[in-house]
Amino acid sequence: MPTIVIIGAQWGDEGKGKIVDFLTEKCDYVVRFQGGCNAGHTIVVGNEKYILHLLPSGILHKNKKCIIANGVVLDPSVLLKEIDILRSKGIEVDNNLFIAKHCHLVMPYHIAIEEQMEKRNKIGTTKKGIGPSYTEKIARNGIRMIDLLYPEVLKSKIKANLELINFLLKNLYGVKSLYEEEIFNQYIEYAEKLKKYIVDTDIIINQAIDNGQNILFEGAQGTLLDIDHGTYPYVTSSNTIAGSACTGTGISPKKIDKIIGIVKAYTTRVGEGPFPTEIKDSLGENIRKKGKEYGATTGRPRRCGWLDLVGLKHALRINGFTGIAVTKLDILDGIETLKVCVGYKYGDVILEDFPKELEIFHNCTPIYEELPGWKESTAGIKDYEKLPQNAKNYLQFIEDFLKVKLQIISTGQKRDEIIIKEFPL
Ligand code: GDP
Ligand code: IMO
Ligand code: MG
Repeated sequence: MPTIVIIGAQWGDEGKGKIVDFLTEKCDYVVRFQGGCNAGHTIVVGNEKYILHLLPSGILHKNKKCIIANGVVLDPSVLLKEIDILRSKGIEVDNNLFIAKHCHLVMPYHIAIEEQMEKRNKIGTTKKGIGPSYTEKIARNGIRMIDLLYPEVLKSKIKANLELINFLLKNLYGVKSLYEEEIFNQYIEYAEKLKKYIVDTDIIINQAIDNGQNILFEGAQGTLLDIDHGTYPYVTSSNTIAGSACTGTGISPKKIDKIIGIVKAYTTRVGEGPFPTEIKDSLGENIRKKGKEYGATTGRPRRCGWLDLVGLKHALRINGFTGIAVTKLDILDGIETLKVCVGYKYGDVILEDFPKELEIFHNCTPIYEELPGWKESTAGIKDYEKLPQNAKNYLQFIEDFLKVKLQIISTGQKRDEIIIKEFPL
């Protein structure tokens, strides 16, 4: 009866979508439990590329149940667009999609206020209204999926929330206010289209677990973007770590069996915030081009850098990974010498653990081990034994340093460009 949680171990975009899509074959349910459409999970099947923002990455498989659970903040306009795109490609979601009654909504005023907040204090967010929606949730003024089913409740909540937001938009930011009626009418339309999906997902998930079905919990973002354990304030507004799979769905920690950390073979980050191993010269640019490191949600160039084992050690500790998957190994092909960060130096002090102080992050320098690269192509390799020896050594170094089992290696975008050392389920 395995339940498996898939977690980004870095700053997001590790290739979670690809791994989730691959593992879905062996699962009955795929569940998103946090984040919102700030996520961009890319899946390539044959010649078709799909970018999913809200739909779980299991949705491309027929007859797999996909759940958007209570921990997610959901923008109905984005979800409906996503459903339409899939439909136009012959994928029907109606029988497979379930949305929690307690899922909070992203409202147009969240996006409007975030736009202004970013001008004052730049975090480099995706501007999808994620932070303001979670802010309202925590302030207990949030609007949830279930409110879509009760127009009078919806109306009064929009009215109450807009009073504050419009005050800020007008008086603090000096921009135009939003209209209550317009938003209400729009959300009533969304309600009509979405009501068929709204259910008690906590009950469905727990029953499925009790019935011995396989459930995959799909994390969005990455550990270092976690609101509590990441590089605050340059983080997202949700808990992105494995524990969030419990609060974000309503299952007991006792019911989690496996936790797989997805580790990109190097590091990327989008938006502002410290990134000690960032490569700022042409090599960084080459990795960006070869790895197509441009945001799946915003199109922004991703900052690229060397693998940071200090950050990964932190991720391992916080999440308790039972195994890891290393993705995008092929992007490192042809680099003569690979660096991996094994510590930070701050003044005269050597740090082995991820610092808590932002000040240290901004002023530390990475301590690198250098490992010989490989000239051969690893693209599309499916058999571990066929990897060049130096690629195996690189992977072994990661495994030994972190003391965690390397179970999966991804060598390309496509579903079948993958090496399974040990099946994680
Ligand atoms: P996610 O947000 O963690 O799902 O990752 P993204 O989809 O935002 O970014 C990962 C990108 O790398 C996507 O374009 C994937 O198709 C691609 N990708 C995933 N695994 C591999 C791999 O092993 N090799 C290559 N070349 N691309 C990969
Ligand atoms: P996936 O699931 C990479 C980053 C943003 C910004 C910070 C806060 O595709 O890995 P937000 O809009 O969440 O308030 O932005 O978090 N960010 C991501 N970076 N991958 C993501 O998702 C991200 N989701 C948010 O770039 O730095
Ligand atoms: Mg992404």
